[in-house]
Amino acid sequence: MKTRQELRQQLRQQRRALSATRRAQLSHAICRHLAHDRRYQHARHVAFYLANDAEVDVSYLIQHAREHGKQVYLPVLGLRHSGKLWFVPYKPGDPLYWNRFGIAEPVHAPRDRHRPLRRMDLVLVPLVGFDQQGQRLGMGAGYYDKSLAHRRRDISHWRRPYSMGIAYALQELPHIEPHSLDVALDGVTTEYGIQYFSEA
Ligand SMILES: Nc1ncnc2c1ncn2[C@@H]1O[C@H](COP(=O)(O)OP(=O)(O)O)[C@@H](O)[C@H]1O
Ligand SMILES: [Mg+2]
Repeated sequence: MKTRQELRQQLRQQRRALSATRRAQLSHAICRHLAHDRRYQHARHVAFYLANDAEVDVSYLIQHAREHGKQVYLPVLGLRHSGKLWFVPYKPGDPLYWNRFGIAEPVHAPRDRHRPLRRMDLVLVPLVGFDQQGQRLGMGAGYYDKSLAHRRRDISHWRRPYSMGIAYALQELPHIEPHSLDVALDGVTTEYGIQYFSEA
């Protein structure tokens, strides 16, 4: 059995092996599926991410979201480092800087504009691997697990946000053994369409 670290390496390599043109095609297909999803259509506050390391590029959907009256947010690592992501409002053209992982973030918005994930309606979650139980393999820092930790505690009365994994179909694994702090995805969108894992 491969370790999480070995699986991460293998899947990241496979993802990087897709040509830029192919990644763009698949990303457009994924954005089209999302645009037709009723959870997306009903969401007002939507957490996006900017693609890094050959991740699916969901930025094609940002303008669409804005035109449909949604508030778009991007993750930032936060000033006091808690391992939790914070989300700040973003519109195309806003200035970005490269954080310590080399990932683009909006230039720090005033503190009162930072929102935690539990105040989003929908979060598009980048991932390295996923399985049919909604288990997720991330980059290995647990940022989304920490930011969604309320979903483990308050599962019955606090369902927000709906967490939608975003992946190329090649990122599917037969089984990811969850550890106790992993937060499962509610759904996943690939180029083939959307799968729903929870009733949320
Ligand atoms: N809610 C949490 N509080 C504290 N540590 C956490 C929490 N969730 C995850 N972690 C820790 O983050 C680390 C990375 O988690 P892991 O699930 O392996 O990464 P990823 O989700 O990025 O694939 C692990 O050591 C895990 O214990
Ligand atoms: Mg995890």
